[in-house]
Amino acid sequence: MTILFFFLLFVNILSVPALADLTDDQVAIVKQRLAESANASWELGVEAQAFLELDSPKYSVTTSGAKLPPSSANPPSSLNEVFAIARNVISERGAISNNPQPFIQDVSSGDPPSVGVAVILANLTNQQSSDGQNYRQAILNQFNYLYTVPRTDDGAISHRSDELQLWSDSVYMVPPFLAYYGVMTKNKSAVAESYNQIRLYRQYLRDQNASSLWKHMAFGTNQDTGHWSTGNGWAAAGMIRVLGTIKNSQYASSFKNEQKDLINWVLEIHDGMYQYLRSTNCFGNYANDNSSFDDAASATLLASTAYRLSTLAGKHNYVHLAERTRIALTAVSTLGGGPANGSFAAMVHFDADGWLLPVVNPLAVGELGSQSPEAQAFVLMMQASYEDWARAGYKGINRGTRSGTSPSLSLAVSFSAGVALVLVLFF
Ligand SMILES: *[C@@H]1O[C@H](CO)[C@@H](O)[C@H](O)[C@H]1NC(C)=O
Ligand SMILES: *[C@@H]1O[C@H](CO)[C@@H](O)[C@H](O)[C@H]1NC(C)=O
Ligand SMILES: *[C@@H]1O[C@H](CO)[C@@H](O)[C@H](O)[C@H]1NC(C)=O
Ligand SMILES: *[C@@H]1O[C@H](CO)[C@@H](O)[C@H](O)[C@H]1NC(C)=O
Ligand SMILES: *[C@@H]1O[C@H](CO)[C@@H](O)[C@H](O)[C@H]1NC(C)=O
Ligand SMILES: *[C@@H]1O[C@H](CO)[C@@H](O)[C@H](O)[C@H]1NC(C)=O
Repeated sequence: MTILFFFLLFVNILSVPALADLTDDQVAIVKQRLAESANASWELGVEAQAFLELDSPKYSVTTSGAKLPPSSANPPSSLNEVFAIARNVISERGAISNNPQPFIQDVSSGDPPSVGVAVILANLTNQQSSDGQNYRQAILNQFNYLYTVPRTDDGAISHRSDELQLWSDSVYMVPPFLAYYGVMTKNKSAVAESYNQIRLYRQYLRDQNASSLWKHMAFGTNQDTGHWSTGNGWAAAGMIRVLGTIKNSQYASSFKNEQKDLINWVLEIHDGMYQYLRSTNCFGNYANDNSSFDDAASATLLASTAYRLSTLAGKHNYVHLAERTRIALTAVSTLGGGPANGSFAAMVHFDADGWLLPVVNPLAVGELGSQSPEAQAFVLMMQASYEDWARAGYKGINRGTRSGTSPSLSLAVSFSAGVALVLVLFF
C-alpha cells in the first residue's frame, strides 16, 4: 500500500508540467481562434509577434541570444504564417506608390506599423520573388508616413492621424518597428528614435500620483486618463521588444544606457501594477480601481513581460507573480478532471472554444468583452516566454516563497499527492 502510494506520487511528480500548463492541443486551439479573428491593424501586428515567439523563436527579438539580423536564407516553414500576414496586408493595400503611406488605411497612425516586423521579415527573405509584393517600398512608405502625422512639440508621434493623441498602446506598435527597421537597414538614428519615442511617451503617460502607473491616454478629444491595465502591459511589452532588438543587434554596445533605462522602466510598470494583482491573480481592468472587473488579458500580457525581463535582462523580480497568473489561468476546475482530449472542458479561464476569459472588450476598453483576439495572442506570448524562462532554469522562482519550491511544483505535488491518496484509499 505504502509502496503503491509512493509509486503513484512519483509518477505524478514526473507528469508535473502537464498539470498547470496548456497542452500542445490547447495552444493550437488558442492560436486558431487568434488566426480566425485577428483583423484590426494592431491585432495583425500582435498576432505576427505571438507567432514568432511561439513557433519561430530565432526570429523573435524577445528571444535571448537570437542575433540580428536573422538569416535571410532558407526561412523555416514556421514563418509561413507570418509571411501570410504580411502578404495579405500589402496585397490588400493595392498599388504601392512612392509616397508616405501606412501599411493599412486606419484612423490610427500608431497601430499599422505593428505589422512592420512581419513585413520586414518578408522583405528579408525575398518573399517578393514568389509573390510579387513590393515589401521594400511598402516599408519605406510606412516609415516615412510616421514623419507626417501630428507630434508633440518635443516629438512624440501621435497615435491618431486626425489629431494629437498619445495612447499607451502605441509603445507596442511604433517603437518596435522603428528599432527593427533601424537594425535591418543599419540606420542607427532610427534605433535611437525608437528609444526616444518610449522616453517621450513615458514622460507624458507615467502618473507619479499613481505609483508610476501609466495613464491610457493624453491629449486630444478621446480622453481616457485611467490606468488601463492592458495599456500598461502594451507599454511594458513594447519596451521589452525594443530592449531585445537593441540587445540582440550590432548596436548593443552603442546603446548601453538606453537598455538600462528600458529595463528600469519595465520594472517601474511592474512595481506599479503587481501591487494590485488580485487574489484571482488577474488585474482589475483599471489596475488601481477596485470596482473595475477582473481582466485576464492584461494579467497574461504582463506575465509574459515578467518572464522576458528575466531571460533578457536577468531581472527576476516578478516571475513568481507571473507564475501565479499562469497557473491560475491554466488550472483545471475539478480535481482529477482535466482536459483529457485537448479540449477546454474543465478549465475555468477558457470557454469551450478556447477563448481566454474574462477579458476586456478590445474595441471598448471600459467594457467586459467575450472574445478578444489580442488576449489570444497574449496567451501564446505568455506560454512562449514561460517556456523560455523554464528552459533557462526557472530563475527567480524562489522569490516570495519560504520553501524554495516553485509554486507550480508545490501546487502540482500537493495535487498529485491528493490524487495518489484517493487512489490508495480506493484500493
Ligand atoms: C476587418 O477590418 C476591415 C478594415 O481594416 C473592416 O472594414 C472590416 O469590417 C473588418 N471585419 C470584421 C469582421 O471585423
Ligand atoms: C528590403 O530588402 C532589400 C534587399 O532586397 C534591402 O536593400 C532593404 O534594406 C530591405 N529593407 C528593409 C526595411 O529591411
Ligand atoms: C534613418 O532614420 C532617421 C530617423 O531617425 C530618418 O530621419 C532618416 O531618413 C533615416 N535614413 C534613411 C536612409 O532611411
Ligand atoms: C499630481 O497631483 C497634484 C496635486 O493634486 C497635481 O497638481 C499634479 O498635476 C498631479 N500630477 C500628475 C502627473 O497627475
Ligand atoms: C481595494 O481592495 C484592496 C484589497 O481588498 C484593499 O486592501 C484596498 O484598501 C481597496 N482600496 C480601496 C481604495 O478601496
Ligand atoms: C473532448 O472532450 C469534450 C468534453 O469532455 C467533449 O465534449 C468532446 O466531444 C471531446 N472530443 C473528442 C474529440 O473526444
